[in-house]
Amino acid sequence: ISKDFQQMLDAHDQLTKFYHHILVNTTDAEHALQYLLDRGFTREVIEKFQIGYAPNQWDFAVKYLKKYDASLMEKAGLIIKSEKGDKYFDRFRDRIMFPIYDRNGNPIAFSGRTLGDSTPKYLNSPETPIFNKSSTLYNFHMARPSIRKTQHSVLFEGFADVIAANRAGVENSVGTMGTSLTDEHLAILKRNSRTITICYDSDSAGIEAAYRAGKMLAGANCTVKVAMLPDGLDPDDYLNKYGEEKLQHEIMQASVPFMSFKLIYHRRGKNLQNEGDKLSYIEQVLGEIAQLGNAVEKDLYLRQLSSEFSISLDALKMQEEELAGRQT
Ligand code: CTP
Ligand code: MN
Ligand code: MN
Ligand code: MN
Ligand code: MN
Repeated sequence: ISKDFQQMLDAHDQLTKFYHHILVNTTDAEHALQYLLDRGFTREVIEKFQIGYAPNQWDFAVKYLKKYDASLMEKAGLIIKSEKGDKYFDRFRDRIMFPIYDRNGNPIAFSGRTLGDSTPKYLNSPETPIFNKSSTLYNFHMARPSIRKTQHSVLFEGFADVIAANRAGVENSVGTMGTSLTDEHLAILKRNSRTITICYDSDSAGIEAAYRAGKMLAGANCTVKVAMLPDGLDPDDYLNKYGEEKLQHEIMQASVPFMSFKLIYHRRGKNLQNEGDKLSYIEQVLGEIAQLGNAVEKDLYLRQLSSEFSISLDALKMQEEELAGRQT
């Protein structure tokens, strides 16, 4: 590990502590702390996740990181060079700071949430020598022991959702931070757990993303479940509306096998009384069945389809085999 690398890690570590201190101990950040408390964040999770606040100044981090080489701090994504190239200023200003850790618990990046409506809602560290977004899962360092012990991980979209899950007692929670699941994420999850429960936002973007992530995970022979929250809510919204116990129930008890999710997924927006919709639904479900690796499962879902739509099992099997042949 090179000296530059170590200094980038040290700078993140120190800045994490300082942003956190500002949030919890200073009047400058009262509005930020109040924002979090109003959203239901507890002091306990603010500690556990080392949430902080970046003051509304151009040179807060610049000054704090003075002992490091400025161009190195720029490379680490913490400060930015002015257009003329003669000055540095802070990347994160007036934002709630979520430190992002590597698997060993070193902070390697930040995401800063605006307190208001300005865009972007979350401002993230860029890709740096110490931070690669596509191979980082938020909270993996703290979730790893419980993931390994239970061989089960729960996958969320966002920071607030992972934190909500923790409040609900679901510690084996990690987040993709809004990006789609990558092969690197998948490798980490597969190495540490047999079962993965996807608990994405229940808006249409979240449902589409859950379908894609589920396909990847199932394709890698993981057991996939999906927790489907109602009314377009995300897990953090759900917690604030219905409470900790209900969120835990949705994730741990009410989640459904991936195939059941796929049936619901393909049914969305269709009127199954309508012939065309019905036929396209059946074709989509047969396509899913064709991808199942397990003959008993295939048989189970073919029989369900057969009885639901009063179609002969032979006809369904014939079409399923044709689709399976086309896929290979
Ligand atoms: N995200 C991001 N940049 C954005 C918007 C989102 O990096 N401009 C990432 C964040 O990791 C965020 C996740 O995508 O947590 C999910 O996005 P979204 O559902 O829009 O935000 P929430 O997590 O619900 O944020 P909040 O509850 O704070 O509004
Ligand atoms: Mn503290
Ligand atoms: Mn979302
Ligand atoms: Mn969300
Ligand atoms: Mn949210």
